[in-house]
Amino acid sequence: MRIVVTAGPTREPIDPVRFLSNRSSGKMGYAIAEAALEAGHVTTLITGPVALTPPVGARLVKIVTSDDLYAAVHEHAPAHDVLVMCAAVSDYKPLHSAAQKMEKQRGLFTLELTATRDILASLPKENRPCLVVGFAAETHDVETSAQRKLRTKNCDLIVANDVSRTDSGMESDDNEVTIFFRSGERKIIPRTSKKIIARALLKIISELHEKSLTKKT
Ligand code: CTP
Repeated sequence: MRIVVTAGPTREPIDPVRFLSNRSSGKMGYAIAEAALEAGHVTTLITGPVALTPPVGARLVKIVTSDDLYAAVHEHAPAHDVLVMCAAVSDYKPLHSAAQKMEKQRGLFTLELTATRDILASLPKENRPCLVVGFAAETHDVETSAQRKLRTKNCDLIVANDVSRTDSGMESDDNEVTIFFRSGERKIIPRTSKKIIARALLKIISELHEKSLTKKT
């Protein structure tokens, strides 16, 4: 199987020294890439800026902004069987990024933002990996939001996690996820290390991939 995993945050520049970003550490995505390599899959890791050592054997593509990630996913995804979109993509970016460092202003300061493109939703119907896995970072209404994202983002699986918890999710080494399938089925992986979750997810992905191949033949 050829698998491409996106991981980490994006950074949206305000000026040469400032940016908008989020708390994503990249640990979940890196663990998935490691699990894929361990299982012998050809693995591409598209990574935002993180403080992690890249897994040995992965083809590494470094990105910074959501526009870089958009371009990298569109370039690399078609040559892979599976896309796992674990990156925490910024939903907004500054409308203008200043070429020079912005000087402090007195009083209220307003930054104009514009929406970034939804990368998963932008994948074409044709010429896309046969399995697309999305993540859903939620602080409330986890199930409703995850089900909506499964449909609107045309995913085969959505891995939902509650990021309001301090003992799992963002930045933590642990996670607890619910995987939502197209069939309406769901699977809960109770709190455990991201490495164990990654292996379990890889097993599910491999089985679904096998099934999709059998259907086609
Ligand atoms: N995603 C994407 N492009 C974006 C934003 C998110 O492809 N511009 C992907 C993420 O990588 C993830 C999935 O969509 O796999 C869900 O991301 P999430 O942040 O949970 O949802 P959003 O679409 O950003 O919606 P909201 O922030 O309103 O929950």
